[in-house]
Amino acid sequence: MPNYYDPHDEVFLANPWPVFRRMRDEAPAYFVEHLNMWALSRFEDVMQASMNRTHYTAAMGTTIDALITEGPKPSAFVFMDPPVHTSRRNILNPPYGKSAAALLEERFRQRTREFMAPHLARGELEIYSFASKVALYTIADIIGLSYPDITHIRALLDVWFHREPGIKGMTPQGMQAFGELHAFIMGLVRQFRVTLPPPGTHIHSFMTTPIDGQLVSDDEVFFTIFSLVITGSDTVALTAAGTIYYLAKHPTQYAEVRADHSLIPHAFAETARYDQPTNVLGRRVTQDHELHGQQIKAGQSVIFLFASANRDDREFPDADQFQISRRPARTLSFGAGIHACLGQHLARMEGRVILEEIMAAIPEYEVQIDRCQRTFTEFLQGYCHVPITFRPR
Ligand code: HEM
Repeated sequence: MPNYYDPHDEVFLANPWPVFRRMRDEAPAYFVEHLNMWALSRFEDVMQASMNRTHYTAAMGTTIDALITEGPKPSAFVFMDPPVHTSRRNILNPPYGKSAAALLEERFRQRTREFMAPHLARGELEIYSFASKVALYTIADIIGLSYPDITHIRALLDVWFHREPGIKGMTPQGMQAFGELHAFIMGLVRQFRVTLPPPGTHIHSFMTTPIDGQLVSDDEVFFTIFSLVITGSDTVALTAAGTIYYLAKHPTQYAEVRADHSLIPHAFAETARYDQPTNVLGRRVTQDHELHGQQIKAGQSVIFLFASANRDDREFPDADQFQISRRPARTLSFGAGIHACLGQHLARMEGRVILEEIMAAIPEYEVQIDRCQRTFTEFLQGYCHVPITFRPR
C-alpha cells in the first residue's frame, strides 16, 4: 500500500479506500509535498472547506491539473469566485432547477427507451456507454450542440481522459486531443456568433446576454461548453453503471429494488456516496490558517477528497458498506457551497429514469462481473464498463 496519498500513483488509484481510511484516521490534513497541496479526507473538513469563501478561491482552478500549474487560468465559471461566478451561474441555472429537470423527464425517458431498444433485441447492454449516450444527447440539447458535434467532442475527451500505465496524468495523445478539441469547439463558437442555436440553449443565452455591458468571450464560451460536456455525460453514466454493479454484488438489496422501484433513487444516491465519481477537486488558499495542527499557507492548494469524505465513519455509520437503506442527513456527493453541483437535480432524474427503464424492460439480467472495468483518473472514478446479459426480446 502506498504511504498515504499521491493522486497520480497507480497502486493507490487501483484501490484508494485503505489509503483514504488511514488518511482520515492519521493525517486528516495531509501535505502532498511534491504538489504543494493539502489533501482533506474527512467529511466535516471537506464540507467546511467547500463552503469557505474567505480562505479559499476557485480562481486558480479546481482540478489538480489546474491547481499545480501557475499562470492565468481559463475563463471558465467553474474557476471563478463571486460576483463573476454568480453572474454566470444565473445565466446557466434555468434548465437545472428541480422543476426544470422534471420537465425534461418525459423526453429523457423516451430517449432512454429508444437507445435501449436495439440492445433488447441483442440480449446484451453495456450500462456505462448506454447511459453516457443518453446523458450526452440531453446535455447537447441543453447546451445547443448538434448530436454529431457533441459525439465528436466526446470522442476527443475520451482520448484526453485516457491514462496509460507508467505515465502520470495526461498522455501525449491526450494533449494532442485537447488541441484538436480546442480548435473544433472554437470553430463552432465562431459559427454560433453568426448563426445562433435556438433560444433557451446555453450558447444562445451566453451570446445574447451581456454581463456588465459585455458579452462573454469566445474563450469563456469554449470552457463552458467543455466543462458541461464532461460533467453532463460522464458522472451520471459512472453512477448508473456503478448502481447496477453494486446491486449485483448485494443480491438482497437488488431483490428489494426489484420488488419496489421507489427504492431506485436511494440505490443511485448510495452509489454516488459509496463510489463518488468526481473524486477530487480543490481550491487555492488565500489566507494562512491552521487545520488539525497544520499550518496551511496562502499560495498553497487544498484538495477535497470527496470520495474519501463520503466514506467517513464520523458521518456515515459503517461507511465502507453499501446500504441503500441509508437516508443521510447530509452528503458531499454533489459538493457544497457556491460551487455545489449545477446539474444535481438533472443527475438524479437521469439516474433514476435510466435505472427504472432498465428494470422495467429487463425483468431478469445477469451482470458480467468478470468483464466489468473501472476507471480511476486523478479527477473521475467509477465503473466505466458494466455489461449485462439477458434473454433477447
Ligand atoms: C451523479 C452525478 C454527479 C455528481 C456526483 C456530481 C458531483 C459534483 C460535485 C462534487 C461538484 C462540486 C465541485 C466543487 O466543489 O468544486 C460538482 C459541480 C458541478 N457539477 Fe456536478 N455532478 C454530477 C452530475 C452533473 C451533471 C449531470 C451536470 C450537468 C450540467 C453537472 C455539472 C456540474 C457543474 C457545472 C459543476 C460546477 C459548478 C460550479 O463550479 O459552480 N454535474 N458536481
